[in-house]
Amino acid sequence: MRSKIVAGNWKMNKNLMETEALLSELSAKLPDTDAEVMVAPTFVNLGVAVRHLESSVIEVIAQNMHFAPSGAFTGEISGDMLMSIGVDTVIVGHSERRAYFGETDEILSKKVAAALEKNMRVLFCFGEELEERKSGNHFKVVEEQLKKALFTLDSKSWNQIVLAYEPVWAIGTGETASPEQAQEMHAFIRNTITQAYDSGIANKVSILYGGSVKPNNAKEIFSKPDVDGGLIGGAALVADDFAAIIKAI
Ligand code: 13P
Repeated sequence: MRSKIVAGNWKMNKNLMETEALLSELSAKLPDTDAEVMVAPTFVNLGVAVRHLESSVIEVIAQNMHFAPSGAFTGEISGDMLMSIGVDTVIVGHSERRAYFGETDEILSKKVAAALEKNMRVLFCFGEELEERKSGNHFKVVEEQLKKALFTLDSKSWNQIVLAYEPVWAIGTGETASPEQAQEMHAFIRNTITQAYDSGIANKVSILYGGSVKPNNAKEIFSKPDVDGGLIGGAALVADDFAAIIKAI
């Protein structure tokens, strides 16, 4: 059975005090669940979040990391630094990193390799843009993104990969992929992995959906057989909403 996961990507939101307040409120409102629950605050508040959630089931994860182990990369954070504060899962490939910070498939493939080298878990994001869907190229685009960043991995490494399909047109727009569109793409992704590897790996990898998941649409999206959870942006910043989404799974 693959894990069900609900992860909150806080992006560049919440200062120190707001982080502590949200974590306290979330801890108090966390529903009983067999899903893994994760939050990704900003780098500066990761240490605080780890300490705050020491005795909680909520896992603290990072939004990004650099591929080099250390060195002259001003402003960057290494996998070793994350591991040293107790963060062993990292989001790689978010569309905002691709769009605003020039992260190419090649860079992402290096980041994945660096994280795996440190024995970290990678939550790998990918998804098509609106024009690509409109022109009917979305399957091709997604397949290429997977191929370039992940299909050079050996089979064993897939134990440390979680996928998050996030159509760019659905991120922060209030426009969600329909549950049918999400299921169609998730099934395609699993099939693509079966072709490249085998069905054992394809059926074991958790595939999350991200893009305007809210309390009122989460249940229907999560009910689809190939959707194993969600990567939540805006709604993860409101404890009641995030708790409701966790409940929905
Ligand atoms: P929204 O839930 O705000 O659309 O963001 C999704 C996302 O980008 C999560 O990584």
